[in-house]
Amino acid sequence: MRVAHPTRAVPKLAEGTPLLALDDVRVNYGGIKALKGISLQVFPGEIVALIGANGAGKTTTLKAIAGLLPLASGSIRFCGEPLVGKATEDLVAAGISLAPEGRAIFPNLTVRENLELGAYLHRDAKTMRETIEDVTKLFPRLGERMTQEGGTLSGGEQQMLAIGRALMARPTLLLLDEPSLGIAPKLVQQIFEAIKQIAASGVTILVVEQNTRIALASSHRAYVLRTGEIALSGESKVLAKDPEIQAAYLGG
Ligand SMILES: Nc1ncnc2c1ncn2[C@@H]1O[C@H](COP(=O)(O)OP(=O)(O)OP(=O)(O)O)[C@@H](O)[C@H]1O
Ligand SMILES: [Mg+2]
Repeated sequence: MRVAHPTRAVPKLAEGTPLLALDDVRVNYGGIKALKGISLQVFPGEIVALIGANGAGKTTTLKAIAGLLPLASGSIRFCGEPLVGKATEDLVAAGISLAPEGRAIFPNLTVRENLELGAYLHRDAKTMRETIEDVTKLFPRLGERMTQEGGTLSGGEQQMLAIGRALMARPTLLLLDEPSLGIAPKLVQQIFEAIKQIAASGVTILVVEQNTRIALASSHRAYVLRTGEIALSGESKVLAKDPEIQAAYLGG
């Protein structure tokens, strides 16, 4: 696929500098300690998976990165710069885009209108047209349904739209929260194929998944979250063979 001419060049970082780095990040909801000191790195060009059971803190981690939740302590750096205290729209402008859990599209707006809303930072017609073209190449089904209302799309199509909308901001780092949730296995494959294509076009990806099998098969590295802490991390193909992971997340 093309997702060509990214308007946002992959940042030139000193060798070995992560694109995203979380250091001892803690997030509380009132008295609930949801993240108890998370450290993780995502390097340019990687697909990194964040896996773990319900309530482990996966969504909380993505929301903290996207500036939607305050940190109790710790730091988040993007391209070497601290992110703490920046508003979500500044983070989008800096190149961080989140496709949230549960698809969160606008049901009464058309597919095209939903996509256009994702591009609110660059409203010039040419970039908008080209980016929509890129998204519809990635997800031809969306291209066939541009005038259809978002709420009438199938669950899988809504997920494509949520990812497409996040791509409309032309991110450097794409955060995906459970792209496989509630979707038939065949469509899950298609969505992960699209994720690989997005990565091949130069977008770095941090993907949260409960579908451990496909997450490990489709990523370079992975972190396993357990009740707000990183329990394990490593190369995905190594983790996929780990007996503990197999017992806990891959059905034995
Ligand atoms: N707004 C909130 N107020 C209070 N507690 C919250 C809030 N949001 C999340 N939590 C709690 O924080 C913990 C982590 O939640 P989070 O949504 O990050 O989990 P998750 O790993 O994404 O789970 P799932 O796989 O079910 O989506 C859970 O115990 C959850 O109940
Ligand atoms: Mg979640």
